Amino acid sequence: MKKHTVVSLRRQKAEGDRIAMITAYDYTMAKLMDAAGVEMLLVGDSLGMVMLGYADTLSVTMEDMIHHTRPVACAAEHAFVVADMPFMSYQASVEDAVRNAGRLMKEGRAHGVKLEGGEDFCPHIRAIVAASIPVVGHLGLTPQSVHALGGYRVQGKSVETAQKLMDSARAVEAAGAFALVLECVPAPLSAKISSELKIPVIGIGAGAGCDGQVLVGQDLLGMFSDVTPKFVRHFAEAGNLMSEAFAAYCRAVKSGEFPAAEHAWDMDPEILKHVR
Ligand code: KIV
Repeated sequence: MKKHTVVSLRRQKAEGDRIAMITAYDYTMAKLMDAAGVEMLLVGDSLGMVMLGYADTLSVTMEDMIHHTRPVACAAEHAFVVADMPFMSYQASVEDAVRNAGRLMKEGRAHGVKLEGGEDFCPHIRAIVAASIPVVGHLGLTPQSVHALGGYRVQGKSVETAQKLMDSARAVEAAGAFALVLECVPAPLSAKISSELKIPVIGIGAGAGCDGQVLVGQDLLGMFSDVTPKFVRHFAEAGNLMSEAFAAYCRAVKSGEFPAAEHAWDMDPEILKHVR
């Protein structure tokens, strides 16, 4: 299996070969995803909800992102690893943006970074790209702006907002982003943006017309039940399987059925006799 790069991902779009991206936050899961042929692993700031139990992504720190990116990067033999820039790691200044993107690459060992926002953040994208750091844009529902947007809602349904999304997508591409995530955007609009842009457009809740799809790993495995957005499909019921396994373990421990002899080490009874 080959190593996925900005060049191979761009080629995939040109050849109409759809890109599969999944969020990963740890070594074990990332290794399974990488071996399964997933081309892009996203260390999303959704780890705030999925791994840390917060209600949103706003409290996620650079340290959280670096901590979770490093094991994913260690696991990725083939996949291209993108780390999210957390809330307030880039919004305040272009300098913050470059410095923190650099930390995700240097300390987290990411291959690229993702940041939310359109025209207002093009100077930030340009500066990060100038520092030789690949950038993925993120438009539509941008969870770091949940309070400004008035909740988690579909974006781009009116002429004005749809046009704004199209303009922002073009601006993010022109600023040098090598890919774009579109979240919760009506399918026909995402398809139009995807066909308009040269860079791969990865959708989540954005329909089948995108160049690729991304889902939260725990969502697609049926492991995370705090919220289930309309766009989620369970490709397995791993959550049920895990709950059953934990309950079976509890029963086996309580009944004394586990551990069995083969799970323990024996010793010479003569030696034990001398132990008081
Ligand atoms: O943080 C995340 O998981 C994301 C995806 C929703 C694209 O940004």
